[in-house]
Amino acid sequence: MKTSEEISRRKAEGIRIVSEEAVESRTSSTLFEHMHLVHNAIPELDFTEIDISIKFLGVKFSAPLLIDCMTGGSDESKKINENLALTAEEQRLPMGVGSQRAGLVADDLIESYAIVRDSAPTAFLIANIGAAQLVKGFSIEDAIKCIKMIKADAFAIHLNPLQELVQPEGDSNYKGVLSKISEFASELNVPIIIKEVGAGLSREVAVKVEKAGVKALNVSGLGGTSWAAVERFRALIQKDELKAKLGDIFWDWGIPTAASLMEVKQSVNIPVIASGGIRNGLEVAKALTLGATICGMASPFLKRALQSKHDVVNFVSETTFILKSAMFVVGACNVHQLQNSRYVLTGPLADWNNSM
Ligand code: FNR
Repeated sequence: MKTSEEISRRKAEGIRIVSEEAVESRTSSTLFEHMHLVHNAIPELDFTEIDISIKFLGVKFSAPLLIDCMTGGSDESKKINENLALTAEEQRLPMGVGSQRAGLVADDLIESYAIVRDSAPTAFLIANIGAAQLVKGFSIEDAIKCIKMIKADAFAIHLNPLQELVQPEGDSNYKGVLSKISEFASELNVPIIIKEVGAGLSREVAVKVEKAGVKALNVSGLGGTSWAAVERFRALIQKDELKAKLGDIFWDWGIPTAASLMEVKQSVNIPVIASGGIRNGLEVAKALTLGATICGMASPFLKRALQSKHDVVNFVSETTFILKSAMFVVGACNVHQLQNSRYVLTGPLADWNNSM
């Protein structure tokens, strides 16, 4: 059993490493650079009338942006969560918290999660736990506690087998995870979202979890934060040479976000969140055109939230302005029209599409 101090220390290390070290993928990208929106020289639109609002899981949001699951479980993460949640409330965006295991292990860490609901009384909030916990005794009652902790509107279970493997103290037993997901999907009264953390979802996994009763997927593919890289840095600190080497070799492992999105979209009928390496509004536009309902970002929000709420809000404004600009030059006055726009795939993304 890990102690609350251990979990807290791991959370703090994760935040420091993601914000200070180069931990994005090195040799692979999201592949969005191989997806081209087609320029429309006669958009016949008034830029000021472009509507970027969307509906996700039956709820309307002002923009197709999700503040993806990140943190909680330390003093620093409380401030980060507060800045993110104030933004989610003000900008009418959904937000996820990081794994709530810390809040279950130690009562004094609950506040670092609960602050999110206190700061965002009406926002759509997503609870979070790692899949490895499901086969280690995490119960339906524990899930209900996590949901109550932030009065969550949905519950995300993250699949992170690679991260667990590279993590010096990780849990590398995934036996029985799928049937647990199915059990949680039928017992909990909020929708379950299945997400990766940066290595992507394949169509096989997407089909299995849709059958298990999951209501949305977050591909969280390769091209952004690499958790093999983050855990490699942690392994180096702990002088665990084997894990450090593993993290180095698997740094760029996974399904690029654009490819994962195409795979999953073609195989399931539930809404799909695109995340993993999405860094600006043009990439959001591309992901929506490939069929995403909404786009998540994690590390770009973390870096701003470490500064101030103002920085987070500015980043949202910049991203939505760039998204609207992309829609203007495509000639789409709303997200539905964008999702029906023509696009061209080239290079490795076209190859991936052809071999599916
Ligand atoms: C994460 N991510 C994450 N995901 C999750 O489901 N539970 C978690 O506890 C965490 N923790 C976490 C901490 C930090 C500091 C970051 C940056 C990220 C993963 C995150 O939600 C996302 O899937 C990936 O980071 C890929 O997105 P970006 O960072 O490339 O935009």
